[in-house]
Amino acid sequence: MDRGPAIRVRDVQKSYKDLHVLRGVDLQVAPGSVFALLGSNGAGKTTLVRIMSTLLRADAGFVEVAGFDVAAASERVRASISLTGQFAAVDGILTGRENLVLVARLRHLRDPEGIADRLLERFGLTEAGSRRAATYSGGMTRRLDIAMSLVGDPPVVFLDEPTTGLDPQGRLEVWDTVRQLAGQGTTVLLTTQYLEEAEQLADRIAILHEGRIIADGTLAELKRLLPPVKVEYVEKQPTLEEVFLAVVGARDEASARPADQITEENR
Ligand SMILES: Nc1ncnc2c1ncn2[C@@H]1O[C@H](COP(=O)(O)OP(=O)(O)O)[C@@H](O)[C@H]1O
Ligand SMILES: [Mg+2]
Repeated sequence: MDRGPAIRVRDVQKSYKDLHVLRGVDLQVAPGSVFALLGSNGAGKTTLVRIMSTLLRADAGFVEVAGFDVAAASERVRASISLTGQFAAVDGILTGRENLVLVARLRHLRDPEGIADRLLERFGLTEAGSRRAATYSGGMTRRLDIAMSLVGDPPVVFLDEPTTGLDPQGRLEVWDTVRQLAGQGTTVLLTTQYLEEAEQLADRIAILHEGRIIADGTLAELKRLLPPVKVEYVEKQPTLEEVFLAVVGARDEASARPADQITEENR
């Protein structure tokens, strides 16, 4: 892949009728890094992911993924990415292995069986591979889903709320999977409502709030937005949660428009 950013988003806007969801979003993701897009329910994370993955057109602005313009070269973008959403694409009737073979066949790849076996191994599913996917736990299903999205080795992977709905064990399993991906040099953009998830996985974190990125940086940079709280002789670092609440709260006060908090309603 070329050396520019793996994902470049500039001044992206998107409305659904009167609902102005994205109001000028800017971000960049370095190749081989894990980028977390953090935002409350309804903030517009899925909307942005759908735009970056060519499923939805922005009203304005510019998006480049893997060096290609999503509007002008959507086919090239599609060939460079995979997208895993909250609702698994796994077919429960098929075994884990059959699911993977099917995707490899659909993508016209050579040696679908070999691809399936390697991915099963990579995600610790070799033993489970011969069982019907309907028998898998939530974490295993999500892992298989992520494995399926890696058939063909896309350089850029979008994971839209990969752990929403999972129990703590499943969440840990998916976290390991994401770490694995990052370890292999894949660029990962994941969305999450969970501060801890961003904190655990991401090289860089951006907070999407009221249609804009209101904070963007490494965890250490975000923590520096708040001065450490001094308690006697012990210096306490702010948690990402404190940073999140502080920056979101500051924005809300600044824009002080009461009764316009649509985002909280659909939680
Ligand atoms: N197809 C659509 N038509 C109308 N409104 C939508 C559509 N998709 C999403 N929305 C609204 O846009 C806002 C952002 O949604 P979404 O991007 O799904 O947020 P998130 O993924 O952060 O929860 C929400 O208020 C949602 O109800
Ligand atoms: Mg969403």
